[in-house]
Amino acid sequence: MTPQFTLPHWYDLHTHFRQDETLPATVKDHVSMQCAGALAMPNTAPPVGKVFEADEVSSYKSIEQYRSEILAASGGVFKEVIVPLYLTQDTTPEMIEKGAAAGVLKACKYYPPHGTTGAEFGAPLDRFMENGVFRALEQAGVTLCIHGEEHGLGPERYFDRAENAEEIFYRDRMPRLVDSFPDLRIVGEHLTTKVGVDFILEAPSHVKANITPQHLMYTVGSLLNGLKYHLYCLPLVKYDEDRAALRAAATATNNTKFFAGTDSAPHTKKTTPCGCAAGCYTGGIAPQLYAQAFEMAGIDLSQKAGQDILENFLCTIGREYYDLPMPEQTFILERSAEDVQPLKIGDQTIIPLPLGMECELPWRIRR
Ligand code: NCD
Ligand code: ZN
Repeated sequence: MTPQFTLPHWYDLHTHFRQDETLPATVKDHVSMQCAGALAMPNTAPPVGKVFEADEVSSYKSIEQYRSEILAASGGVFKEVIVPLYLTQDTTPEMIEKGAAAGVLKACKYYPPHGTTGAEFGAPLDRFMENGVFRALEQAGVTLCIHGEEHGLGPERYFDRAENAEEIFYRDRMPRLVDSFPDLRIVGEHLTTKVGVDFILEAPSHVKANITPQHLMYTVGSLLNGLKYHLYCLPLVKYDEDRAALRAAATATNNTKFFAGTDSAPHTKKTTPCGCAAGCYTGGIAPQLYAQAFEMAGIDLSQKAGQDILENFLCTIGREYYDLPMPEQTFILERSAEDVQPLKIGDQTIIPLPLGMECELPWRIRR
């Protein structure tokens, strides 16, 4: 008999849906991979830099507006969608207080300025440490989602054998952040290094992190051998030692800190004349990829004990942290090849990661 098991519907707690004509199709892919909801990142164009539609803060998109667009695109399937506020030079403590009091603001996102796709509106971390924004988050119980990479580094420090942008951020910035705001709820987004994992493990229980499928599956050699640009995302995939630490963290039986967040990022144009857009698309196939990654990490998914470990990571830790409702529906993952297809939207195409890596996906969702 084909190995199979049942999981509850789950929440993808770090994803990108954009704001344009790709939104309905990418939300639909999330519905098809049995998501009950998502945390949709605010690096849209324009960015989600205000809470209420009526707020007069330049020409930003509002949380109210973007959230209702995503809920509508899900056709009523999504029970909850969290849209974090993009922390910009215009963010004030008053916006945080008002948004939190109204129950609209649940999270904020820190982007290192110019550090990744859509990060040009980010402002340096120190600004928010000093201007009362982080204090307001701490007091209101709003979560700070952190893209933990140091910005503005030269090439030798950005990615080298001795150090890289994420390691520098977790060594030099995070301890100060946690010490200065001891009750601040923090999520280290898309963790990629052993340094990051070790930091999260030692931090207080309200400091957690999410991990993408690609960072559990691949190393930088996978990206470079053949220049597999569909695997180019930020933070970059790292070394074997880092992947081993991520795998150990995600698959520990006593894991209470590491949860699923795909960082699925739809790009209709991956390559440009002089570069490559950062982001891997894993809509429609993330539970399958996580199952594959957990097997690569040595978890036996034919056994209940192994299935429970995956369920804890995929369905429980993040949902409880964000206090999201427990979905009633379940779905079945079975060990049989998934038919992965490019996502076509009009004359545009988005390539899901397994196609970009020219590899098979051994798990599928039973339809
Ligand atoms: C994301 C995107 O394309 O929106 N890209 C990525 O490489 N992960 C932005 C981000 O989260 O860095
Ligand atoms: Zn992201």
